[in-house]
Amino acid sequence: MVDRSNVFSRVNASFFICRPRSMDTHGVEISLGRIFSTPCECAWRKASEGQSYSLSAAERHATRGFAPKREQEFVAGRLAAHECLARLRCSIETIPIGSDREPIWPDGIVGSISHSTSLAVAVAARAAEVVALGIDLEKADAVSPDLWPLILTEAERDWLDRKPDFERRNWATVMYSTKEAFFKYQFPITRLWIDYSAVTVAIFEKDGYVQLKTESHMQIGHRRSDTHLGRFDCGEQFVLAGFSQTNGQ
Ligand SMILES: CC(C)(COP(=O)(O)OP(=O)(O)OC[C@H]1O[C@@H](n2cnc3c(N)ncnc32)[C@H](O)[C@@H]1OP(=O)(O)O)[C@@H](O)C(=O)NCCC(=O)NCCS
Repeated sequence: MVDRSNVFSRVNASFFICRPRSMDTHGVEISLGRIFSTPCECAWRKASEGQSYSLSAAERHATRGFAPKREQEFVAGRLAAHECLARLRCSIETIPIGSDREPIWPDGIVGSISHSTSLAVAVAARAAEVVALGIDLEKADAVSPDLWPLILTEAERDWLDRKPDFERRNWATVMYSTKEAFFKYQFPITRLWIDYSAVTVAIFEKDGYVQLKTESHMQIGHRRSDTHLGRFDCGEQFVLAGFSQTNGQ
């Protein structure tokens, strides 16, 4: 585990260049259902111009200075999140931005947001039922080989080497997405910034499960462990990954 480093901005800058124009919304909806079962509420929104009027004044204010693309993604993420809250009968006007950019959910709610150019996804649940949630959406094959040394461990790259050429970018994207989803899952509880090299992902291709191993044991909710089980799904245009821990798990 390390301090926040400029690796994050280098990686994210590279993603910005290769992000998609559009996503298969039907596929994303099905994947959300596969990854997060009841009692989680999931929603998606297309990022497009002119939706910010639906946000509260405080949320609109928060987008001041955002580039148009970033504003559209933020708005779509907040709209998806508000939809989840409405379904949980816990509507609030504003989901504030925390000091580390994390969304501040209302008391008694946990949740997570992700976006990738044209689409945003959110998941939320009652804290009485779910301890922590993390979600990540990426364009299919987004993680190009030049990024692998920055975000994948040696063990992960060895595993990729054993895959056919044409599958490698997909699996690299699943690994990256798993790490991002895990980061959002653990951060509101631990406040830890974890480096990509400090976690190793194992993919159970056929089952849609991912196992993320941390360097040391982490207490997340009721579980203290160095292995954390998540789920992933791959559509033609996207990769989605998620972690959730229900109460009593
Ligand atoms: C913040 C980060 C997780 C994702 O940012 P991104 O590339 O913009 O990707 P996404 O679109 O998937 O997610 C953005 C959303 O995550 C949420 N988010 C941001 N920071 C967060 C945090 N500290 N904790 C929880 N959620 C957070 C926000 O809702 C944000 O959207 P918004 O700003 O529009 O509200 C990533 O850039 C980062 O800084 N990672 C740090 C280290 C890491 O991931 N390590 C992996 C090993 S565990």
